[in-house]
Amino acid sequence: MKEEHKQYHKRLMTVALRLVKPTAYFMLLLLAYTLGYLSSPSSSSYPRSPVPSSPTPFINELINLPSQLDQFRVKAHCAVPLPSERVRQTILDRVFNGTSPFDGFPPTYVRPLLQRQRIRGWGSNGAVFEHLIQKVRPRTIIEVGTFLGASAIHMHGLTRKLGLEAQILCLDDFRGWPGFRDRFKDIKMINGDVSLMYQFMQNLFSVNATDSVLPVPFSTGSALEKLCELGVYGDLIEVDAGHDFLSAWSDINRAYRLLRPGGVIFGHDYFTATDNKGVRRAVNLFARIHGLKIKLDGQHWVIDST
Ligand SMILES: *[C@@H]1O[C@H](CO)[C@@H](O)[C@H](O)[C@H]1NC(C)=O
Ligand SMILES: *[C@@H]1O[C@H](CO)[C@@H](O)[C@H](O)[C@H]1NC(C)=O
Repeated sequence: MKEEHKQYHKRLMTVALRLVKPTAYFMLLLLAYTLGYLSSPSSSSYPRSPVPSSPTPFINELINLPSQLDQFRVKAHCAVPLPSERVRQTILDRVFNGTSPFDGFPPTYVRPLLQRQRIRGWGSNGAVFEHLIQKVRPRTIIEVGTFLGASAIHMHGLTRKLGLEAQILCLDDFRGWPGFRDRFKDIKMINGDVSLMYQFMQNLFSVNATDSVLPVPFSTGSALEKLCELGVYGDLIEVDAGHDFLSAWSDINRAYRLLRPGGVIFGHDYFTATDNKGVRRAVNLFARIHGLKIKLDGQHWVIDST
């Protein structure tokens, strides 16, 4: 009986902690923001001493917590949208110095590293892809997190089937993650350099998708910033990179700025417990701040801007 009681309390505490955690997180961020704000050179009206003489400003900031959430909106505007027919050439010019990365592929030193086709993903063939591609009929698809290209190849097939001339931009640093080779021992590594980008490109070759898919081989953060600067927007944006809260949060915020009006942003692993449910917490918070509705399709979350 006593044991049961303890268990009950433990469960109650867990639930309470779960509810409190996001709030606590924001309080912490807000406090950090507030401190930065108060110590910034521009706020010269505040005392210069390292310890503020009165705690009042902090308390005021915290009382205004709801309106303070505004500070976390990503406000910077991206460049004027490029017409979709100029997207591929712009990426070729600005990322690859005007030459297709597929020209002369694979170079002789890479050839021995590659398998003819090595495709692996998670949830990459979910029905959500077909639902959204049919609905949106995208000209530009941005994929944030690509790995070996399974879902990009699936989306390529779907756009072809529908007669759409879509370009798919695949943002990934193509480094995998620490320890991924425990499960992918066959992916070759040379001096710590894994051959994921080359194998991804080889996979595209193997399905004749090199005219409609391009890698953008940088961290998702810097690649999304570049697209913003270039005015490359997506009709359909898939977010499936880092699953911890901070990665998912930053990817979603940066990616949403690049969504064309009427477009759809979606992502995998809404239900996974991995990384302390980072994806779900980020998506929920984002939707809440922006007043958006989350729809679910299989294991995917979907936010429709229409
Ligand atoms: C970019 O391409 C031009 C020729 O089109 C070449 O002269 C130049 O060296 C290239 N730059 C780099 C950084 O590869
Ligand atoms: C490969 O795709 C191109 C269009 O991007 C098409 O013209 C060509 O016929 C395809 N080749 C094969 C072998 O399917």
